[in-house]
Amino acid sequence: MCTKQCSIKTFFKMAPQIKYTKLFIDNEWVDSKSGKTFETRSPHDGSVIAKVAEGDKADIDEAVKAARRAFHRNSEWRLMDASQRGRLLSKLADLIDRDFEYLSQLESYDNGMVMNFANMLVGGAGNFVRYIAGLADKVQGDTIPADGDVFSYTLRQPVGVCGLILPWNGPILMFLAKVATALAAGCTVVVKPAEQTPLTALALAALLKEAGVPKGVVNVVNGFGETAGVALTHHPHIAKVSFTGSVEVGKLIQQAAGARNLKRITLELGGKSPLVIMDDADLNVAVPFAAQGVFGHQGQMCIAASRLYVHSKIYDKFIEEAVKYAKEIKVGNPKDANVDQGPQIDEEMMNKILGYIEKGKKEGAKLLTGGKRIGKTGYYIEPTVFVDVKDDMTIAREEIFGPVQSILKFDTLEEVIDRANDTNYGLAAGIFTTNVNHALQFAKHVEAGTVWVNSYLHFAPQGPFGGFKDSGIGRENGFHALDPYLEVKTVTLALPKKF
Ligand code: NAI
Ligand code: MG
Repeated sequence: MCTKQCSIKTFFKMAPQIKYTKLFIDNEWVDSKSGKTFETRSPHDGSVIAKVAEGDKADIDEAVKAARRAFHRNSEWRLMDASQRGRLLSKLADLIDRDFEYLSQLESYDNGMVMNFANMLVGGAGNFVRYIAGLADKVQGDTIPADGDVFSYTLRQPVGVCGLILPWNGPILMFLAKVATALAAGCTVVVKPAEQTPLTALALAALLKEAGVPKGVVNVVNGFGETAGVALTHHPHIAKVSFTGSVEVGKLIQQAAGARNLKRITLELGGKSPLVIMDDADLNVAVPFAAQGVFGHQGQMCIAASRLYVHSKIYDKFIEEAVKYAKEIKVGNPKDANVDQGPQIDEEMMNKILGYIEKGKKEGAKLLTGGKRIGKTGYYIEPTVFVDVKDDMTIAREEIFGPVQSILKFDTLEEVIDRANDTNYGLAAGIFTTNVNHALQFAKHVEAGTVWVNSYLHFAPQGPFGGFKDSGIGRENGFHALDPYLEVKTVTLALPKKF
């Protein structure tokens, strides 16, 4: 730890302490049954941060057993008042606020997200959990006007043990969006974090235990998709899977969900989100939003504004400003407070993005800035701007998940709505305009689960989030967030004729 002599500055430059590396099953820290571990590495320089217990099918089986015991009708968890479940989650929110700095630093260290971004996400996490906690005791059934002399009503009950599979791009937020929601609904869970970012899920598991969540309710098994992930999605005692990640794996999960028992699924997958800049837009606002919409978090966002449609009348002016903005982005060590862009998550993703950049050049898009790897250690890529991109080019069709802005030209709103919808994705969309009619027509007709007008990336726990088409199934967050974790039961009593 920091001694008295070391300055505050040095303290924040130190790597955060790694407190947990084992599996978390039944509220205990355990090694994997095979004894295997895997390395988690820093995206900044590729160095090993920690060796983490590697779970596979045998560990998933143990975790599911623990979660089933915790879901037994006579368990402490099932007998707990819904309001108490809410209080436990509120306690978790307080603990997240207490450990805010540590959690932000750990997230940045393991994932490579810049500290400003980590602070924003983790800073909002407590309130996110508080919102979900507030829903725990607001699950209500209906009285049913059934024909006949009966009294009929519905109960809404937790679906069972849930398998929650997380991506690496927002580990803390994804963990909380899924775990807090499942717990508010009364479910128990087995979490499989992404292999690139196993650490913050363990830190949150420790906070859940500290908050007083009974044993077996939350279990965290780190490991790989092909082993631990597959075991979870095929497990006959998992009632529901919630997954965030690639469309490719989303489709595998949909198949796995019907392979043994019939699992309910929520899928939050990728995107190729269109952002439209009309000729009446305020460019002082639109240019920075468009840039942050795709360069933010190194472009590793499912809602990245990766197809930027700019009206022909302002096209030249816009691209001049966009390139200027991209050139001013400060890329560097995510620990430095004044850095805008950090490294990509790993070498594989970096190479995938560089491959897309090469394809963009080969297929005739004009590269105005960026396009190359920065340095030889770590996984840094220059903020890249392509213009004169055509709808059928690979960089306009496939999710790049990197700092690559692709700019396309259009002439009319009618035309751009059709072009925006010409994709299998449907996660987010945006428009910058001062014409309210144009904004409302776009919002009505664009096929996307989230639409921003004169804004981008604005999130609130109160707003449902999810995708149209191949971008997913179901919604997370919002007032109805608990619904996918609940079953509806109709109960009907015959009323005695004599009374
Ligand atoms: P991925 O979909 O392979 O991995 C996400 C999670 O699924 C990880 O926890 C992984 O271990 C698990 N997984 C992998 N294969 C599985 C299987 N067969 N069964 C069960 N679980 C499995 O995503 P990856 O490889 O990290 O990234 C590939 C692409 O996916 C990215 O380039 C990006 O386009 C997209 N992506 C989208 C995200 C989003 O926020 N919607 C997040 C991460 C990636
Ligand atoms: Mg994968």
